Amino acid sequence: MGDIARQAPEKDTGEDIYQYLLERITNLENRNLELREQFRQMESEKRYVETQKIRYERELRKLKSEIEQLRSPPLVIGTVTDVIDNSRVIVRSSAGPRFLVRTSQLIDPDLLKPGVRCTLNQQSLAIVDVLPTSYDAQIYGMELVESPEETYENIGGLEPQIEEIREAVELPLTKPQLFEKIGISPPKGVLLYGPPGTGKTLLARAVAHQTNAHFLRVVGSELVQKYIGEGARLVRELFDLAKQKAPSIIFIDEIDAIGAHRNDSTTSGDREVQRTLMQLLAEMDGFDNRGDVKIVAATNRIDILDRALLRPGRFDRIIRVPLPDAGARLEILKIHTAKMSLAGSVDLPAVAELAENTTGAELQAICREAGMMAIRRDAEAVEREDFLAAIKKVKREVAAPDSRMYL
Ligand SMILES: Nc1ncnc2c1ncn2[C@@H]1O[C@H](COP(=O)(O)OP(=O)(O)OP(=O)(O)O)[C@@H](O)[C@H]1O
Ligand SMILES: [Mg+2]
Repeated sequence: MGDIARQAPEKDTGEDIYQYLLERITNLENRNLELREQFRQMESEKRYVETQKIRYERELRKLKSEIEQLRSPPLVIGTVTDVIDNSRVIVRSSAGPRFLVRTSQLIDPDLLKPGVRCTLNQQSLAIVDVLPTSYDAQIYGMELVESPEETYENIGGLEPQIEEIREAVELPLTKPQLFEKIGISPPKGVLLYGPPGTGKTLLARAVAHQTNAHFLRVVGSELVQKYIGEGARLVRELFDLAKQKAPSIIFIDEIDAIGAHRNDSTTSGDREVQRTLMQLLAEMDGFDNRGDVKIVAATNRIDILDRALLRPGRFDRIIRVPLPDAGARLEILKIHTAKMSLAGSVDLPAVAELAENTTGAELQAICREAGMMAIRRDAEAVEREDFLAAIKKVKREVAAPDSRMYL
């Protein structure tokens, strides 16, 4: 209104005012029309945007369900081996072959690094998700959560061997300063060898019981895998986990399954086993002696082991676990009869003398058999005759091991 008042002429005549107001009204009406027009336009624009919004929402829902479908299991598990650019990545699927694939835009490109595990869509093999880095479930299965019950007291007649393994495995873990003082690096690992049933596995279990270290137990044949590179990966993950959980002891039982001589064999299975062995050699070189990871391995075929495994720097101590002599046999018999009710007639030293050329496992079997005989007779205690019969029985069943084969 102020505008109109200011622009109004000074000397008003009725005609002028009339003219002025008329003009003003026409202007305002025009303006009104203009605004209405604008309003209509805005309205239709709004309607358009709203329909657009509904369309986009519908599309979003569709895409979301499509993504869900792509991400829904079963998905192929793969490992990223190379990142080419933001949208193209090379993965190795768990079945073996390698693929160049695209990645879902929902994945943070920073997460995609070589070695990362991811899930792949079954059809397009596009990466749909990145999995948290974790080790193979098999590796976790190797970790002994509860420490074994065996102690050094349960081992008969292997005192020098116990001493050696304690020095090589326990001491570096419990008193590393001793090695620092003298200025030598402690042994990395020990290899136990000897005929079957002489107590190699038992020794390793006792070490695990005695130290507070994490104990990872793997049987050599578990590391032999079907697909190329899988065995090597298991070895790598095993050592990674051991390092992460240090102080720890890795126990590889029956190492001959992967540690046999490498030769020019041409079957792909043999080559895969060799690759696994090479990874093991590399891992053993890779961690430093002062580290808190120790390796204990056991075999009864040291003669077929690869020379590279036996050289100092890998297994620094090679401990022979022999057949027990008469004294050791008596010790073993004492251990296994500790809980048995024996009659006065039983003369354990004589039994030990008689049970020549037997292993600890066989002596245990003799004790068990003697007990079984007593049960059969419905007797209160085990008699001398039971032992004699048991020795005969066990010796007949198990042909005396050819000790030459085991060196
Ligand atoms: N020195 C020993 N003292 C007491 N028991 C023993 C001894 N040696 C063997 N045994 C008994 O024999 C069983 C088998 O021994 P163990 O598993 O240690 O044999 P091993 O040397 O690992 O044989 P393999 O080479 O066949 O694996 C043990 O569970 C234990 O009961
Ligand atoms: Mg064993």
